[in-house]
This record gives sequence, C-alpha cells and structure tokens, in this order.
Amino acid sequence: MAPQEITRDVVIIGAGPAGLTAAYRLQQAGHSVAVLEARHRVGGRTWNGDIDGAFIEIGGQWISPDQTELAALVKELGLTTFDRYREGDSIYKNLAGDVIQYNGDTFPVDEATTAEMQRLIGLMDKLTAEVDPAAPWEHPRAKEYDAISFREWLKTQTDNDEARNNISLFIAGAMLTKPEHAFSLLQALLMSSSAGSFSHLVDEDFILDKRVLGGMQKVSLGLAEKIGDDNIVLGHPVRVLRWQEEGDYPVLAEAEDFGEDGVANPEGGVKVRAQYAIMAVPPNLYSRVSFVPSLDRRQHQMHQHQSLGLVIKVHAVYDRPFWRDRGLSGTCFACENLVQEIYDNTNYDPATGEEETRGTLVGFISDEKADLMFTLSEEERKTAILDAMAELIGEEAKNPVTFYLSDWGAEEWTRGAYAASYDLGGLSRWGQYQHDPVGPIHWACSDIAGEGYQHVDGAVRMGQQVAKQLSEKL
Ligand code: FDA
Repeated sequence: MAPQEITRDVVIIGAGPAGLTAAYRLQQAGHSVAVLEARHRVGGRTWNGDIDGAFIEIGGQWISPDQTELAALVKELGLTTFDRYREGDSIYKNLAGDVIQYNGDTFPVDEATTAEMQRLIGLMDKLTAEVDPAAPWEHPRAKEYDAISFREWLKTQTDNDEARNNISLFIAGAMLTKPEHAFSLLQALLMSSSAGSFSHLVDEDFILDKRVLGGMQKVSLGLAEKIGDDNIVLGHPVRVLRWQEEGDYPVLAEAEDFGEDGVANPEGGVKVRAQYAIMAVPPNLYSRVSFVPSLDRRQHQMHQHQSLGLVIKVHAVYDRPFWRDRGLSGTCFACENLVQEIYDNTNYDPATGEEETRGTLVGFISDEKADLMFTLSEEERKTAILDAMAELIGEEAKNPVTFYLSDWGAEEWTRGAYAASYDLGGLSRWGQYQHDPVGPIHWACSDIAGEGYQHVDGAVRMGQQVAKQLSEKL
C-alpha cells in the first residue's frame, strides 16, 4: 500500500497547543489544513493522565492572569477554570536547614536577607521593564547581558547567599529549569518580561493561579474536535519536509506511520502537499526532520543553541489533603531541598465541579537534582523524594496512595521540560531570526514566544500569530 497523499492549503507539524491553535484559526479563516502528529494523542506537553484511578496533569497546567490569550481560548472552547488551593500557612526551609511555617508574601528570613531580596526583586523589576519580551535582543545592552550567566551576574549584585539562592530559584529551578550558570541575564530577563514583571514570578498566587477543569489537555482536545478527525493524523511523525517542489504546492511533508508499539509500518504513511508548512514543535526537535533542500547555516547554528531544561514533576495523591489539618496551604519552598517547591494540586471533579476528597501534592525537582534521581533505582528514587517532601510538609507525605513522576526527558517527542532557552550569547545572536520564515515554512511554539514564553499562553499566541500571517498570504 502506497502512502496516502492529500493536499491542503497548510500542513501543520505538531498537534500541541501551538499547532492546533494555528490550524483552527486558519480553518476559521476559510483555509484547509492537515495536522501531522508524531504521538498517538494531541496536546504535546499538556497531557491528562489517569494513574491507578487518580487524575494527574502530567505536563502544563497553570494559567496566570496575564495569560489572556489562553484564558480567552479556554472560554471560547466552553471550558472553565478553578483556583489553586492557597488557604493557610506556607513552609520555607532556610539555608541552615530549619523548616519554618510562615504566612504572607515574603519568606521568613532574617531582616538583612529580607531587605536584600526586596532590593534584588526591585532591581530585576527595573531591568525587566526595560526589556521587550517580543524583542529582548533590541535592548541596548543585550549583548553584554547575554554574555554573563545569571549566577555570575547575581554574584556581582549581592554577597548574601540566601537572598541569591532564593532569587535564582524563581528563574532557574522554577522556570527555565536549568542551573543558573547555564543561561544568561538576558535570558532571565526575557523570562520575567514575558510574565509582565519579575515580581509576578516571585508571587506564586499570581503565576500559579488557575487550572482548567478536567485538565489543560482539554484545550487541545477541544481544538482537535473543532478541526475534525479528517484533518488530524496521529501517530505520524514527519520525517521529511520538502519545500521547493514544482507548482502551486511547494511543500511536501512526508510522515511515517508509527505504531503505538514503536514499530513503523513501511506500507503506511501520509504525504501532505501544501502551500505552506508550520513547524509547531520545540526547536530541539527541528533537526529530527530532514529538510529538502536543507535549511541555511544560520538556521542550523541557531537550532543547535536552543535546548530544553529538565524538571521532574512529582505527583503524590493522598486519601485526604492531610496538610490542611495543620492549617497548611501545601505551598513549600526550599532551594537546597531535593524537592524545591511543593503545591496543593487537589483536583476538582469535572462532572460535579466539586473538589475531590483525595488530596494531591505536586512537587518539582530541577536540572542537576533531576539528573541525580535517575541514577537511583525506582524504589530508592521514590523514598528519596517522599522523604524530602515529608521533611517539609509532614510524615504523612511518605504514604501516598498514588505516586507518579512526569519524566519528560525520556519522551522521544519532547526530550525535556518545560521548554527551550538559548545557551549563553545565543538569544542576542540569533533571537531576532527565530521567527523568520524559510520559504513557505513558518515556526510556532511556546519556546519562541515573547509574552507567555515557555507557557501554553505563548504557544497559543504563536499559533494565532502565524495563522494570521498565513491567512494574509493565502
Ligand atoms: P508542544 O511540545 O506542546 O507540542 C509539540 C507537538 O509536536 C507534540 O505533540 C509533539 O509530539 C509533536 N512533534 C514533535 N516532532 C514532531 C514531528 N517530527 N512530526 C510530527 N509531530 C511532532 N505551561 C503553562 O502554561 N503552565 C504550566 O503550569 C506549565 N507546566 C509545565 C509542566 C511540565 C512538566 C511541562 C513539560 C510543561 C509545562 N508547561 C506549562 C509548558 C507548556 O506545556 C508548553 O509550553 C506547551 O505545551 C508548548 O506547546 P507547543 O504547542 O509549543 O509545543
């Protein structure tokens, strides 16, 4: 059987939020689309899981108030949101190892550290306000800010270790998910400007505000339903993208039929002829596709300097949210702890809209600590993680009814979490070219967004932007 061949105005590679938003907006504008997706599901880095009967958001889940394009899409799709639980005290573990219960917006550190943290937050806010998230490379000192690691820069600003570690946590462990020596000050400022301010990143009640009832993947599932099964091909990674074919349809995307068992079916496959292509996959995966003819040297260089960070998202489900009995919100911060952040992630039942009786905690283990975890056996890993959580939130944390680790680093079609950032010097050197179309090929994903960078909102914005550009051309 020869590969099936279809013709559309636009072929979209990747059925994550960016690709599906682009496809839906193009369709609404009267254009025909085909979405080719490697996985056997839509949603990309958003994924609703059912682990032993417990609902788990394996990937992206939170929406903050500045993420207005995503919020509007959620509403348009008829979905609803609910607030993260945040009543009660939080937990902070200081550098000396003391675990302290506190209330309010500032960590319970000594007066000098509080003042230093406030000063650094103010400084980061000031610098952030000077940076346009859509064009950080245009800042007059972009090259200079891109040549120094965030860690080295922070060291020039303060000698207070605890203040420095805490400021780092908000950008490194909690956002870019790389060690703070691995990205530049400019990259850090893109992260904070994309969220409106550095103060927003520090404020967990802002940045981790709402969740979609039924899970964030519902956004992609809702879009896919509108786009229609006939226009989405799952389990078909695009292997070859020809973009200088003769005639009115210069694009030919060749996708392999890839079974759920990981075995390719040489008899199957799909070829899509199109006027335009949208690569809606993270930049670290561009080179998984053979471009014919090849991309130019700038593209080749640029793509090699964008890489995903790494974080393990820990899910621990308990028969009840035991921490609330002690007046705790579930929120914990501990830079030096294996699990650096914990939040109450208790679910709401989509059928009733009521909060479930079971309690869920979600925790995060970032970059080098995540590497370390994968050197352990499964049992050792679980024990280390639950011990670290118990140290912060209580002994009962050691006995979840369900325990699951989101391991995106092992996912063939993602290879890290949450998203991509440039290595030192890359953002100022190549950033201005990252959206440039190559002939009929356009690029859309959260990793190259300005506002909403690294987030689902950024993916939606990129999808909409590229759809608008192509609608004008078609
Ligand atoms: P995405 O990666 O989602 O989609 C790309 C698609 O392309 C995938 O489906 C992939 O399979 C497919 N693909 C790749 N190569 C292909 C090929 N050759 N052929 C065909 N298909 C191909 N965001 C947020 O807003 N709030 C949050 O709380 C979080 N938290 C979070 C936690 C974790 C653990 C992760 C991993 C991520 C988040 N995020 C997040 C980030 C958010 O999930 C992410 O920014 C968006 O899903 C990105 O959407 P895109 O469509 O750009 O890429």
